[in-house]
Amino acid sequence: MIRLVAGNWKMNGSLAANRVLLDRLEAAPGVEIAVCVPYPYLAQLQQRPAGLALGAQDVSEFAAGAYTGEVSASMLAEFGCRYVIVGHSERRALFGEGNLAVGRKAHAALAAGVVPIVCVGETLAERDAGQAMEVVGRQLAAVLEVLGAAAMSSVVLAYEPVWAIGSGRSADVGQIAEVHGGIRAWLAAHGVDAESVRTLYGGSVKPGNAHEIFMAANVDGGLIGGASLEAGDFMAICRAAA
Ligand code: G3P
Repeated sequence: MIRLVAGNWKMNGSLAANRVLLDRLEAAPGVEIAVCVPYPYLAQLQQRPAGLALGAQDVSEFAAGAYTGEVSASMLAEFGCRYVIVGHSERRALFGEGNLAVGRKAHAALAAGVVPIVCVGETLAERDAGQAMEVVGRQLAAVLEVLGAAAMSSVVLAYEPVWAIGSGRSADVGQIAEVHGGIRAWLAAHGVDAESVRTLYGGSVKPGNAHEIFMAANVDGGLIGGASLEAGDFMAICRAAA
């Protein structure tokens, strides 16, 4: 399947800086490229290079109503979002999102025709305790519980070890291949059409390590934080996935 490289801008950007960045992004053959931007910039991103998919970084589990501060999946769909990140470790750690809430957000996204990019991954303490796959399995199980196996086949997953995010220390290719293989096997064992689920790697992906990571078994693309804010780096990473 064609790889997906998604930029997660996190809480960065300004109208002026985004313009400069967007002017230097372009579609690349053989890879799908997306940018997941802060909500206020969804309007600005209506003007973007052809072939670049749009995404958001969070979504409400609720459809509509008295939920001050929330943004619904149908609002994202209205702005042309193809993707929305759910369950990023920063949201889990800083905003108290639990495994089941992540599942409900994924469900809300799918109901509105937006593909959730569901993030999973272990902390360093969990990895050191030999529990990486167990933790990832628990995170996946909650999403499966909410979605069911058929809908679970339509999500994108992103394996982001917490200790590799923004640290400059990517997981090594062996660690990445092991967990990605584990995820594929977990999905198949739970009745999900594992081959149709794209699983991205995220955590300190840079132009220098992107090719090696993307060529690892069961890696179907990347979720890119810091390096997605610099056009040259992001395009180099995207090309490495083609
Ligand atoms: O969602 C992407 C992310 O968490 C990885 O961030 O800066 O390590 O590429 P970074």
